[in-house]
Amino acid sequence: MKIITSIAEWRSIRSQLRNRSIGFVPTMGYLHAGHLSLFQQAKQESDIVIGSIFVNPLQFGVNEDFSTYPRDLERDVKWLEEMDVDYVFAPSVEEMYPSPISTLVSVKNITEMLCGASRPGHFDGVATVVLKLFQIIQPDFAYFGLKDAQQVAVINQMVYDLNVPVQIRPCPILREKDGLAMSSRNVYLSAEERDEATILYKTLQWAKEQIEAGLRDTERLEKGLLEQLKNSPLANVDYAEIRHYPDLQKKKQIEGQVLIALAVRIGKTRLIDNVILEIK
Ligand code: PAJ
Repeated sequence: MKIITSIAEWRSIRSQLRNRSIGFVPTMGYLHAGHLSLFQQAKQESDIVIGSIFVNPLQFGVNEDFSTYPRDLERDVKWLEEMDVDYVFAPSVEEMYPSPISTLVSVKNITEMLCGASRPGHFDGVATVVLKLFQIIQPDFAYFGLKDAQQVAVINQMVYDLNVPVQIRPCPILREKDGLAMSSRNVYLSAEERDEATILYKTLQWAKEQIEAGLRDTERLEKGLLEQLKNSPLANVDYAEIRHYPDLQKKKQIEGQVLIALAVRIGKTRLIDNVILEIK
């Protein structure tokens, strides 16, 4: 596996790989099994697999955890090497942003709600860095986890609107045994908080059961989500919503493809989780 830190170096390698299909997994590192499942998928359909590890300052708010975001490049590289990944692109902030950026990619509408509402500017930062990475890597396929379902919708919209020649592959959420969605941020949780964090998955399961039993009223379901989350004394709700996916519109009665999305602070750690259901 080759580690690349300069854009120019990758461009020269990329030009030699013309006839090979390239699968790309963008990450911010501190990898876990959820990330690795994306690499697994990439390996299944691409000749060459490249991952990026870059904690993107542009997508963090001023009061967010950019400086403390967990990092362990050595361990990440070891894991990707064991998985037989071909290349890792791990640029510095200076390499990606040599001077303050003047151009932003801003996807409208579907960024107005959920994480877009509670993290202003976040999705501009994500869309901008992902487009930059696509321009640099020039992959055929790119793999994104549905753990960040709104992010997948935003990237798909950007790729569609700007005719970006990359096929987006959404991948399922990987969970711990007790249902907690894997996340780099789970390391922030104390032992007690880690126990309480299962409230997100339990709440999603509750909603799924209600919907399977025939409940369709969005308002009643959303009230129920909040009630369920009250079962944890440590849970501080950012949002608990049910929306149509991927347009993220709210309907009075749910129908079609539905996203149940939660963002909950457990102590100081903000966790997100979701489930997507198809209503027949
Ligand atoms: P990061 O949070 O590191 O996540 C990288 C990719 O891994 C994302 O597509 C995310 O949805 C996926 N992922 C995270 N946890 C997962 C889980 N439990 N199961 C399945 N997939 C999971 O998302 C980002 O980085 C950044 O916003 C990025 C796209 C790299 C742009 O900076």
